[in-house]
Amino acid sequence: MDKRAIGVFDSGMGGLTTVRELERRLPHEDIIYFGDTGRVPYGSRSPETILRYARQDVAFLRTFDLKAIVIACGTVSSIALDEISKECPVPVIGVVEPAVKAAAEATKNEKVGLIGTQSTIASGSYERILRKIRPGTEVTARACPLFVPLVENGRFRRGDALVDMVVAEYLEPFKEAGVDTLVLGCTHYPLLAEAIGGYLGPEVSLVSSGAACVETVHRVLADNGLETDAPGVGTRRYFASDSPESFEALASIFLGEDIRHQAVQIAIETY
Ligand code: DGL
Repeated sequence: MDKRAIGVFDSGMGGLTTVRELERRLPHEDIIYFGDTGRVPYGSRSPETILRYARQDVAFLRTFDLKAIVIACGTVSSIALDEISKECPVPVIGVVEPAVKAAAEATKNEKVGLIGTQSTIASGSYERILRKIRPGTEVTARACPLFVPLVENGRFRRGDALVDMVVAEYLEPFKEAGVDTLVLGCTHYPLLAEAIGGYLGPEVSLVSSGAACVETVHRVLADNGLETDAPGVGTRRYFASDSPESFEALASIFLGEDIRHQAVQIAIETY
């Protein structure tokens, strides 16, 4: 039994989709979240820059006494999971493999779609694992670079003309390919799930990379005797590298709870 917190980070707000699921599945655990809102997006940057940013994010989180770190970012999980895992003394969990496993289980026609940031799609991370787990699967992949800025600006709702237009433009090839499962390979994208589901229709299963990893977090904690035995709801602490007020405003919407005056700004470049 271990009362230390779980550290969670992302380039911005997207990792809150993981926090939301952690709160649902592991409500007693303490969570420390860092969103690198001053440097988002990561997905259009080089692997070297993404690794450097990720190391700084982890260095900041490790100023706390943590029992595990969740890379709640498809981009960092695709580019830097191995290095970060090697450098950390506690378990590090990424979002790619859990999402691929969920997609492999969900697909019936073995036609799977994958959307993510440019770096994630270019890395081939999801496809590589999917082809191993379920060889013969036809994968249609596409980068959707406008999705992250839309979400970071609070534009994610179905019925928002701009959102619906961008969704239709990006997702048309998936309709044509006849996929029955779409992996939302960036943790920002589940916030667009209603718009995406509305366009693709109910026959296409959406797999949230943000949520899928929580099963793995649960298993890793259980296997290593790291679950908390504290009663009640765990504590939450939020940190961002840009305006805490902006973070709080958007995070309150995403989490469905008021977190005003709870976020703290940090200078991530100093880590
Ligand atoms: N949430 C990040 C991901 O899962 C967004 C990346 C970005 O900042 O571009 O990939």
